[in-house]
Amino acid sequence: MSGARALLAEVFGAAAEAEVRAPGRVNLLGGHVDYNGGLVLPLAVPRFVTAVGARRADRTRRLVSEGFGESVTLGAETPEWARLFEALVQGMLQAGVPVPGFEVALTSDVPVGAGLSSSAAAGVAVATLVLRLAGASASALEVARWVQAAEHRGLGVRSGLMDPLVSAGGRAGHVMALDCLDETYTLLPLRPELAEVVIIPTATARALAASGYNERRSACERGLAAVQERHPEVRALAEVQPAWLDAVLDPVDAVRCQHVVAEVARARAGAAALAAGDVVEVGRLMSASHASLRDLYQVTTPELDALAELSAAAPESFGGRVTGAGFGGATVHLVRPGQAEAFLARVEGALEGRKGWVARPTDGALALG
Ligand code: GLA
Repeated sequence: MSGARALLAEVFGAAAEAEVRAPGRVNLLGGHVDYNGGLVLPLAVPRFVTAVGARRADRTRRLVSEGFGESVTLGAETPEWARLFEALVQGMLQAGVPVPGFEVALTSDVPVGAGLSSSAAAGVAVATLVLRLAGASASALEVARWVQAAEHRGLGVRSGLMDPLVSAGGRAGHVMALDCLDETYTLLPLRPELAEVVIIPTATARALAASGYNERRSACERGLAAVQERHPEVRALAEVQPAWLDAVLDPVDAVRCQHVVAEVARARAGAAALAAGDVVEVGRLMSASHASLRDLYQVTTPELDALAELSAAAPESFGGRVTGAGFGGATVHLVRPGQAEAFLARVEGALEGRKGWVARPTDGALALG
C-alpha cells in the first residue's frame, strides 16, 4: 500500500478509489518569460506529489497532507497551506466540473521551496484526482489554468502557466517547448545519449519569493505599458524589439524588460538548437540565461551564481542556470553523457558537500494515469 493510501485509511478510515501522481519540474530556458508571453523549455522531473482519494455521499471535502501533518475541511477556516486546494475546487466547480464530496490524502517527495514547483505539482495532483473522482476529463491546458488561477487566488503568487502545464502534460524523454502567448506546445526529445539533466539544490531556502516575484511581474507590466504607448499592437513583452525598450524610462523597469526580451530570444534559439541536437549551444544559452537573471533580473543568490559559474567552466557540463523563480532554490545543468557522476563529484568537492541528482524527463500527471 502506498504511503498516501495508508494515510487516507488512517486519518479518514477510507479506502482509495483513485490514485494519481504529479511531477515537479525544471526549466532549461525561458526564465521569467512565461508571464510575458515568451517561449519556455521545461521538463517534468521524477519527484512526485501523490494524491489518493475517495468520494463521499455528501458535499464535505476533506484533505490531509503528510507534509503539513494535519487534516482540513475545505471551506471551514482553511489554513494557509490548504488555500490552494480550496481555490482550486472553487475554480473547477465554476468551470462546470461536478466535483463530488471527497476525502483526499497527499504525500510528496518534491522538496518544498527548492524551485522544483512543489505547489504546482500538488495542485495538478489534486485537480487530476478530483477529475477521476468526478468521472470527468480535461486537457493539460485546462488543468494548468485551474491550478494557475488557484495559485493566484489561494497563494497570492501571480505565477505563469509553465509549472502546472508541464506537471500535467509533460512527456517522458521530452522537453516541452511551450509558447505562452498562444498557449500551445510541442514536445522535443532530449536523448540521454546527447545530454543528461542534473539538478543541484542549494542550501538557501527561498526568501521573499512571493513579493520579489510579484514585484518583477509588475515591473514587466509597467514596461509593456510604456512600449504600448508607441506600439499599441504589441500584446506582450515577448513581441517587443530590443530598441523599443527606449520607451521604458524607469531604469529598473528597463533592465528587467531587457532581460525578458533577450531571454525570449535565447529560449527560441534554444528550442531550435535542441531540435537540431545541438546540446552544446543549449548549454551555452543556459549559462547566458543565468548571467542575465543575475545581472538584469536580479533573482539569483551567491550560491546559485557559484554553481552556474562552476557549470559554465566544468568540462563535464554544457552549461547551467537557476531554475524556477530564483531567490534560492536549485540550479539545472546539461551535462555530457556519462559524465554526470564526475560533475556531481566536482560540485560536491567545490561547494561543501552539495549533493545533486540526475533527472530523466518523466511523464506528466495526465499520462501517468
Ligand atoms: C516560477 C513560476 C513560473 C515561472 C518561473 C520563472 O516557477 O511559477 O510561472 O514564472 O517562476 O521562470
